[in-house]
Amino acid sequence: MSGALTRLQWLALALTVHLVMVAGEFFEPFNVTYDHRALIIDGNRRMLISAGIHYPRATPQMWPDLIAKSKEGGADVIQTYVFWSGHEPVREQYNFEGRYDIVKFVKLVGSSGLYLHLRIGPYVCAEWNFGGFPLWLRDVPGIEFRTDNAPFKEEMQRFVKKIVDLMLEEMLFSWQGGPIIMLQIENEYGNMESSYGQRGKDYVKWAATMAIGLGAGVPWVMCKQVDAPEFVIDACNGYYCDGFKPNSYKKPVLWTENWDGWYTIWGGRLPHRPVEDLAFAVARFFQRGGSFQNYYMFFGGTNFGRTSGGPNYITSYDYDAPLDEYGLLRQPKWGHLKDLHAAIKLCEPALVAVDSPQYIKLGPMQEAHVYNSEGQTLTWSGNNSRCSAFLANIDEHKAVSVTFLGQAYTLPPWSVSILPDCRNVAFNTAKVGAQTSIKTVAFDLPQSTNVYVPRRLMIQNEVPHISEAWMTIKEPIGAWNENNFTAQGILEHLHVTKDRSDYLWYITRVYVSDDDISYWEESEVTPVLTIESMRDLVRIFVNGQLTGSAAGRWVKVVQPVQLVQGYNDLVLLSQTVGLQNYGAFFEKDGAGFRGQINLTGFKNGDMDLSKSLWTYQIGLKGEFLEIYAVDEHEKAGWTDLTPDAIPSIFSWYKTHFDAPDGTDPVVLNLGSMGKGQAWVNGHHIGRYWTKVAPKNGCQRTCDYRGPYNSGKCATNCGQPTQIWYHVPRSWLQTSNNLLVMFEETGGNPFEISINTRSTRTICGRVSESHYPPLRMWSNPDFISGKLSINDTTPEMQLQCEDGHTISSIEFASYGNPQGSCQRFSRGNCHAPKSKSVVAQACQGRNSCVIGISNAVFGGDPCRGGVKTLAVEARCKPASSIGSLAME
Ligand code: GAL
Repeated sequence: MSGALTRLQWLALALTVHLVMVAGEFFEPFNVTYDHRALIIDGNRRMLISAGIHYPRATPQMWPDLIAKSKEGGADVIQTYVFWSGHEPVREQYNFEGRYDIVKFVKLVGSSGLYLHLRIGPYVCAEWNFGGFPLWLRDVPGIEFRTDNAPFKEEMQRFVKKIVDLMLEEMLFSWQGGPIIMLQIENEYGNMESSYGQRGKDYVKWAATMAIGLGAGVPWVMCKQVDAPEFVIDACNGYYCDGFKPNSYKKPVLWTENWDGWYTIWGGRLPHRPVEDLAFAVARFFQRGGSFQNYYMFFGGTNFGRTSGGPNYITSYDYDAPLDEYGLLRQPKWGHLKDLHAAIKLCEPALVAVDSPQYIKLGPMQEAHVYNSEGQTLTWSGNNSRCSAFLANIDEHKAVSVTFLGQAYTLPPWSVSILPDCRNVAFNTAKVGAQTSIKTVAFDLPQSTNVYVPRRLMIQNEVPHISEAWMTIKEPIGAWNENNFTAQGILEHLHVTKDRSDYLWYITRVYVSDDDISYWEESEVTPVLTIESMRDLVRIFVNGQLTGSAAGRWVKVVQPVQLVQGYNDLVLLSQTVGLQNYGAFFEKDGAGFRGQINLTGFKNGDMDLSKSLWTYQIGLKGEFLEIYAVDEHEKAGWTDLTPDAIPSIFSWYKTHFDAPDGTDPVVLNLGSMGKGQAWVNGHHIGRYWTKVAPKNGCQRTCDYRGPYNSGKCATNCGQPTQIWYHVPRSWLQTSNNLLVMFEETGGNPFEISINTRSTRTICGRVSESHYPPLRMWSNPDFISGKLSINDTTPEMQLQCEDGHTISSIEFASYGNPQGSCQRFSRGNCHAPKSKSVVAQACQGRNSCVIGISNAVFGGDPCRGGVKTLAVEARCKPASSIGSLAME
């Protein structure tokens, strides 16, 4: 049994295989250890940038591109959680296929030359359904999650060992020649520990000891765990982690989650974290002694199917990450971070050579940290790569001039300047040189995909709707098959559904006498249904009619109802919208109803329905017959849907559509629908809900200065939170794709459109005073001192997405242009050649570089003042430009 091998035995096995294979599959086998300063990789301390990507939030077809774009953006490491619920949906029935093919993912990371940080958990939080735990775990007799509980520990150990053994078998640990350099056990348990008393403390020790005992042979971390045992590294999570100190001087400062954005709830605004602040946080971290920093998320992706946690997390997990939900570069975020990473890498030799930096106070809110491997006397002696410094201005309001080693530096507010040689500025976190990209959906709609496009606008832009031929079928209200059962009282929702569906029907009958009717008429009383407490959503049907709905987390529902004499059918549809993924004892939270359900206002007093007989029906008929499946859908009794049909609740819709041409990511616009779920060719693309964000709470401009929180810089107020849904290309065929939707509230399928998303507009704005391109630092003349930083020219780089080229220059001005992307205008200083110079350099190319100097633009357009170049350009798919040229 492979799992029983000790680390030594594995090493022996690896050595044997090594002889045959010459080396591990991806790297020469190397060891990973650590000291107080950094992780030590193959004997060398390293400063590491890590990119968070959760493999099931993308398709395997997307993985290579996501990993490549992370690497190009400067990542050394890819970080992911392991998703237990996806790997073991049924106890001891494992799934490592498709989006859950973790071995393939890890191997792709390795083959691209990156390392991997595997956070096994197996509790992961992650806005993932049930925090990553499979639902069956709840039903293990005597279980209590995440505490010193024997059944839980047994299950947890079994799964963690399963994953470690799998990685061992596949030779994926560093010492086997694989990419895995670090693991994680548990997740932020420190936030919950006190709720569990002594048992919590014992659990921490057990989890750490158990993990180490699995013989993985690389370091383990526990994030947010101040009492992590000495052999496990406690790491920081948050928006800022500079100043974080692990619980022992022997451990390095690791930042496992730098939240570069935030998640979103249905009916919420869209969060945005400005890149100037994000870069500030990262630079401060390395400035103050940090050595490993991971972006949570570098790519957030999509919660396909019903994987999103909750309550109420949306299908998109875009996270405002440097790579957007579809894997496209989010600019200037991606580009500015790329520059930051390059600057930090220039400092790496000095950073790793010094045990701790020298601190110099530069002003009341300004400070320098100097990494000088030459000793503590700081006298300038030419370009010296063994001295690197970070100068910070933590003043939120003002730019400040400081003197450092006899030189003057101006530091913008809330910024860090990075000086790889302790003299020249390679990068400042507040000075963005990277381009901006504006994403649009196809047909050149003027909005980004985050903006709701009303029907009127779409007609003007002639967006073709997905289909004129829709079919429909009604979903029965209440019981639909003989497998339903009747029980007395209110059963807990998850106990019944086991999360096989969001939906659980509670069905009962209420008798109303003549006396009640006359009492209501005389006293003008209406009977009221009261549910003491409910989550996440309930729909109330009386005699087949939808009477009311309510949403919330453990809220009271009070619903007046119209009843008739005799028997009345009362149907409550309880719905989950993503299971709880956070909080102590969250497995005990359950779902559905709590407390009493009463009908009040009767002549003879209230009716306590909590003690009545209820019939239980799990899920939807269409769901269980899989009428969304390619092989099954034709068996259902669909009828044609006519355009004048009244929008109808609880209906299924289906159509077929052709895939958009090209390779751009495909999105479905469900802005005309209400709430439901959608499938394409049998793949569950997720829940949809056109719930609108509050009207207020969005700022017109986003000020990067000062500490970030998820409410700052939000957008999308008064608009549906999500209308665009990702349909991965690999789920589509050229034509005749099956789209099936289940709609609860009654939308209009005729207005659904299918589009592609891409960057159509790119902008740059760089001034003469910007720092030179980072590649200058590897120029031999610069290294030897022949070339000074003042002799070099800053540059603007513009790039369209892969497969796209710059088709036109909409605006270009070298001088003192005003405004920002899509709103540039000329100032009173303008070089007449601006547009022709830029067009010459860029048009017809995927990317271009333009020097920012008078020489490039045919002389100084006006004396004095710093000149700036602003450009707005269009990108088009390379093929479409080709065909245009042929016409
Ligand atoms: C952290 C947690 C992550 C994720 C994040 C918010 O506390 O560890 O898994 O939930 O919050 O996106």
